[in-house]
Amino acid sequence: MATTSPPPPLLFLLLLLLLFFFTTPTTSDSEVDILLTFKSSIEDPTGALSGWSPIKTHFCNWTGIACSESSSPSPSVASVDLHSLKLSGDISSSICQLSQLTGLNLADNQFNQPIPLRLSDCITLVTLNLSTNQLWGTIPNQIFQLSSLQVLDLSGNRIQGLIPVSLGSLETLQVLNLGSNLFSGSVNPAVFVTLSQLVHLDLSQNPSLASELPSSIGKLGKLKRVFLQNSGFYGGIPESLLGLPGLEVLDLSQNNLTGDLPLGFGLELPNLVSVDLSQNNLSGSFPTDVCHGKALAELSLHDNSFTGSVPNTIVNCSRLQRFQVQDNGFDGEFPSGLWSLPEIRIIRAENNRFSGELPDLAVAPSHLEQVQIDNNSFTGRIPQGLGLIQTIYRFSASFNDFSGSLPQNFCASPAMSIINLSHNSLSGSIPDLMNCKRLVSLYLADNSFTGKIPSSIAHLPVLTYIDLSSNKLSGEIPQEIQYMKLALFNVSYNQLSGSVPSTLISGLPASFLQGNPDLCGPGLPNQCDMPSNRQSSKASRLVLAAIVVSFVAGFILLAAGLFVVYRRFQTKSTKVGRKSVFFYPLNISEEQILVALNEMNTIGRGPFGKAYVVQLRGGELVAVKKLVNSCKLSLRTVKAEIKILAKARHKNLTKLLGFCYSESEVLIIYEYLQKGSLGDVLCQPSFLLEWGDRLKIALGTAKGLAYLHRDYVPHILHRDLKSNNILLDAGFEPRITGFGIDRIIGEASYNSSMASELSCHCYIAPELVCTKKPTELMDVYSFGVILLELITGRPAERPASMDSLDIVKWVRRKINMTNGAVQLLDPNICNSAQQEMLAALELALRCTSVMPEKRPTMDEAVRSLQSLYP
Ligand SMILES: *[C@@H]1O[C@H](CO)[C@@H](O)[C@H](O)[C@H]1NC(C)=O
Ligand SMILES: *[C@@H]1O[C@H](CO)[C@@H](O)[C@H](O)[C@H]1NC(C)=O
Ligand SMILES: *[C@@H]1O[C@H](CO)[C@@H](O)[C@H](O)[C@H]1NC(C)=O
Ligand SMILES: *[C@@H]1O[C@H](CO)[C@@H](O)[C@H](O)[C@H]1NC(C)=O
Ligand SMILES: *[C@@H]1O[C@H](CO)[C@@H](O)[C@H](O)[C@H]1NC(C)=O
Ligand SMILES: *[C@@H]1O[C@H](CO)[C@@H](O)[C@H](O)[C@H]1NC(C)=O
Ligand SMILES: *[C@@H]1O[C@H](CO)[C@@H](O)[C@H](O)[C@H]1NC(C)=O
Ligand SMILES: *[C@@H]1O[C@H](CO)[C@@H](O)[C@H](O)[C@H]1NC(C)=O
Ligand SMILES: *[C@@H]1O[C@H](CO)[C@@H](O)[C@H](O)[C@H]1NC(C)=O
Ligand SMILES: *[C@@H]1O[C@H](CO)[C@@H](O)[C@H](O)[C@H]1NC(C)=O
Ligand SMILES: *[C@@H]1O[C@H](CO)[C@@H](O)[C@H](O)[C@H]1NC(C)=O
Repeated sequence: MATTSPPPPLLFLLLLLLLFFFTTPTTSDSEVDILLTFKSSIEDPTGALSGWSPIKTHFCNWTGIACSESSSPSPSVASVDLHSLKLSGDISSSICQLSQLTGLNLADNQFNQPIPLRLSDCITLVTLNLSTNQLWGTIPNQIFQLSSLQVLDLSGNRIQGLIPVSLGSLETLQVLNLGSNLFSGSVNPAVFVTLSQLVHLDLSQNPSLASELPSSIGKLGKLKRVFLQNSGFYGGIPESLLGLPGLEVLDLSQNNLTGDLPLGFGLELPNLVSVDLSQNNLSGSFPTDVCHGKALAELSLHDNSFTGSVPNTIVNCSRLQRFQVQDNGFDGEFPSGLWSLPEIRIIRAENNRFSGELPDLAVAPSHLEQVQIDNNSFTGRIPQGLGLIQTIYRFSASFNDFSGSLPQNFCASPAMSIINLSHNSLSGSIPDLMNCKRLVSLYLADNSFTGKIPSSIAHLPVLTYIDLSSNKLSGEIPQEIQYMKLALFNVSYNQLSGSVPSTLISGLPASFLQGNPDLCGPGLPNQCDMPSNRQSSKASRLVLAAIVVSFVAGFILLAAGLFVVYRRFQTKSTKVGRKSVFFYPLNISEEQILVALNEMNTIGRGPFGKAYVVQLRGGELVAVKKLVNSCKLSLRTVKAEIKILAKARHKNLTKLLGFCYSESEVLIIYEYLQKGSLGDVLCQPSFLLEWGDRLKIALGTAKGLAYLHRDYVPHILHRDLKSNNILLDAGFEPRITGFGIDRIIGEASYNSSMASELSCHCYIAPELVCTKKPTELMDVYSFGVILLELITGRPAERPASMDSLDIVKWVRRKINMTNGAVQLLDPNICNSAQQEMLAALELALRCTSVMPEKRPTMDEAVRSLQSLYP
């Protein structure tokens, strides 16, 4: 790699000559030339360096240049900082001719080359930052001649090979970041022996390393931050690590570390703010007094191999905020002092074998936010003070041996959003849930709770996942629960009785109610025949209908009013500030498009606006989607996003041909397919499509989505997938349209349009109500709904004429009956396809699982569907 043939003498002479010219007259003239030479080998697609021109401004005012304030007659360049400018091309070492250059930062660009050897000429350099590029090859030894270097950041590249021992010659180094590269082999401890000034060390995310932890790190007395996570480290934690009194952050997670902790771990790390040992294979127990600071003297007496002097101050962990040791094999008493540390925020110890009891937690003002101690052997009671901690948002302690009853206030913290106490031995009744207005998940399954389900549960506004299964709860299910937006309500295997609120039955799979022999209701083994019940539910249905009707009427009036106002306004402003961009040659003008957008040409309407079909001059048709630009996004922003969408090319995606922009709306031009959409086809009274065609539609759709989710960069979420957005060509090959609209109109406007959409929400994954962040698994849910439509031959909304259910709920209800699955299949398809259709049904059920993590990815869906092809 690092072999260069010596330059031919002639070239060398020329170089000298050049050098001579550069360094002679006034320094500033030559500095200008040096900078321009450096720029000339760089590709600058966004024109970020277009201001680098001696005519425009003095070079000290150029983008990224800082000059030294020295008293010398003319200023000279002290640092060049060109990070995040989308630059590529060649990094020319000509920059090293700047005689006072101390800083060079080219981070976060797209340089794709080895580290230039001749950067070694920049002998004045103090900071070198080449992070987040696409640099490759090994680290050239020449770099180690930069003897003043204090900061070296090469992280986020594709640098390979061993971490060179000669790195040790950079004796002034304070920050060394080699993280997120492809370094391999073992780390030689000799590297660190001389780096005595090091404060920040990062070798993380180099999964190809396979090395013991270099014990010499423990000699670097100034170290504050050590990041070695996910880098193939194995073996024990060296005792020398204890000798770092300044250490603030230690991350050794996701390695292959084994063995016990060195005795006294934590005792000599008084400044520790964050320690992460998670996901290793560490074992043994923690010194119980690890953060009490009491038993220090005794500990040292027991430890003969303990070198170093016994500190005479009592050490505590008064700064510790994060303690993460989950997914290891630790056992013994959990260090109880941790719970009362003044700054502690996060304690994660799940999946170990810790034992002991939790203290009451009610003492000092606490900052505790997150406690995860699932799957250990903790005993005793749930802390009485839990509800008093104002900051805590997660307390999960499932799979332990906690017993006794829940404290009355267990859910009183205003921030609490996840409580998981399943699989313990808790008893007594479930207290009323007060004040925890942010509670999303309540898991109390597999305990011995008795009494009723408190009806206060129904008044928690965002509660979405409730698992009370396998307890001894009795009484009725509170009626109020039917008005909650639940994705999970598992009360199976209790002793509940009485009638189940009707919408609860239709909204959730019956298996969530099973094992309660005394429950009754439609679809359950027992029917309840209490007339009063019927009437009240009929009455409530009437009230509901009335509300819906009046709401719809109101909305229509409002919309009509707005439309009139909008039309007036629009006719005035059509001409101003329009701009169109076509990605394909389209023989049509903006005006012609605008004229064609009338009622007669409407082909559909969705939450974001209408779609029209427009004829080009040559006779071909295109589809035009009209989006309201309610956030007044600029042309630049809109153009950048649409370009991203237009570049997504796949046989199963419709082409985006161009767009017209104005301040009030954006018109997107797509290719038009004659057959219309799957939605149209499904609604035809005689929907007859063979299974082979339906499978083709499903597979093509799955492939298109998988491309958007995985293959295309940046990954795109569809976020509005429904059968109306699947267009069909003459051979019933599908093409997905309408993806990524959120990117064009902005998140806020996307959300408000979706929320105001009155028609079917049945393609939308249930977790959308409680998570803000959209995920690909939400698209998978929508895909599952489309698959159900194809299998049953019924539309997603109101699949059966007398039913107000959506298709997912309808299918779930049917499937639990004898032969239910077979009865779901579209009877218009001949029996010979039954096996494939049942397999597709199973996939569709997985895709529409209420629990997102149970859904397959689109890649898996593609594979499943492919296996169904004969
Ligand atoms: C940089 O620009 C500012 C004003 O834009 C000016 O005052 C200053 O003198 C310039 N610096 C140099 C070194 O030319
Ligand atoms: C390197 O530059 C990037 C981008 O400016 C910055 O985020 C990073 O912190 C820098 N590295 C160091 C060690 O300062
Ligand atoms: C951990 O070590 C085992 C055996 O030594 C090896 O098979 C495994 O790949 C290692 N895991 C990691 C993450 O390095
Ligand atoms: C963890 O260590 C134990 C012995 O200490 C060993 O038997 C086991 O295979 C290790 N597990 C992994 C995943 O390396
Ligand atoms: C121990 O903690 C107390 C506060 O709890 C603090 O005042 C004291 O400075 C700490 N001692 C050390 C050695 O950090
Ligand atoms: C509990 O932790 C053990 C390791 O301590 C692990 O093997 C097991 O899978 C965990 N159980 C669950 C349910 O996560
Ligand atoms: C609660 O714990 C159980 C068992 O460990 C687990 O299956 C479930 O996913 C947990 N729920 C939440 C919300 O953490
Ligand atoms: C509901 O609870 C029962 C009993 O604990 C369990 O078998 C079933 O898997 C649970 N269902 C879900 C979706 O969590
Ligand atoms: C649903 O099916 C399960 C097992 O197939 C059965 O135990 C349960 O009683 C059924 N529920 C209803 C409502 O039919
Ligand atoms: C565009 O349409 C006009 C009139 O309809 C026609 O004369 C012209 O040839 C077309 N141009 C192209 C490139 O098709
Ligand atoms: C969808 O993709 C499949 C294979 O990737 C291809 O055979 C089919 O023609 C595509 N559909 C359309 C409409 O192009």
